[in-house]
Amino acid sequence: MPEPWTTDVRRFGTIDSTNRYLLDEARAGAPDGVVAVADHQTAGRGRLGRTWEAPPGANLLVSVLLRPAIGPAERHLATTAVALAAVDAVAALGAPGLSDVSVKWPNDLVDPAGRKLAGVLAESDLARPGADDGPPDPVVVGVGINVNWPGDDTELPPELRGHAVSLRQLAGGTVDREALLDGFLVALGPRVTDLGSPSGRLRLAGDLLSSCSTVGTRVRVDLPDGSFEGTATGISPEGHLVVATGEGTRTVVAGDVVHVRPGS
Ligand code: BTN
Repeated sequence: MPEPWTTDVRRFGTIDSTNRYLLDEARAGAPDGVVAVADHQTAGRGRLGRTWEAPPGANLLVSVLLRPAIGPAERHLATTAVALAAVDAVAALGAPGLSDVSVKWPNDLVDPAGRKLAGVLAESDLARPGADDGPPDPVVVGVGINVNWPGDDTELPPELRGHAVSLRQLAGGTVDREALLDGFLVALGPRVTDLGSPSGRLRLAGDLLSSCSTVGTRVRVDLPDGSFEGTATGISPEGHLVVATGEGTRTVVAGDVVHVRPGS
């Protein structure tokens, strides 16, 4: 078995949020390579200020502390590295039904039907920009993977039915969370190494393109100042989404992306 990216794995039965924990550790000077895993979060954080909830002991809730020597323009590639490691880890479980998981840009893992299997949330401490001579600024990237919950759609709140899925549903049986975590930490090694070089970052962007179900689809992009529609045509070298619209090509750095089904 290849080596995991780190052995500094801190485990919690219950915590408010593994992302919050690692951001505090980063503020206190923790180096990159710290991982936090929880059985249960009481204040799990999702994107856009949402909460992230899962029953205790059911899913993989894990955050990693990175200090990539990259500028703000390439920061999305930290999310990409973690999302791709999660895709790798799911495929490495080896069960039929788990090899077709893709990335819905910017940060979801979805099954072939577009149901959400996992979400990735990157947070950095913008209040404390790093000193020029200090270690690179931290970015904490957390991922929540639906492992054994839901067992089926009836366990989901009505608004999530048809929109979320678990590895257990896809694999047709219970999945070992520890095996998934081990695979994730092994897969992270080369992905984090790639973050550290220009050629590696190009590889991350290329692998994202290969794994991204958003590219080639009609999308609606919701931005703070409005929405627009177009066809997602590619991924930029920085990991951003390239969208062709009637008025030309736009590169989306951040935003909520909805896959628009023909006729909807
Ligand atoms: C999303 O909104 O899709 C992102 C969800 C990210 C959830 C994970 S669970 C582990 C880590 N800790 C948190 O508080 N959030 C992330």
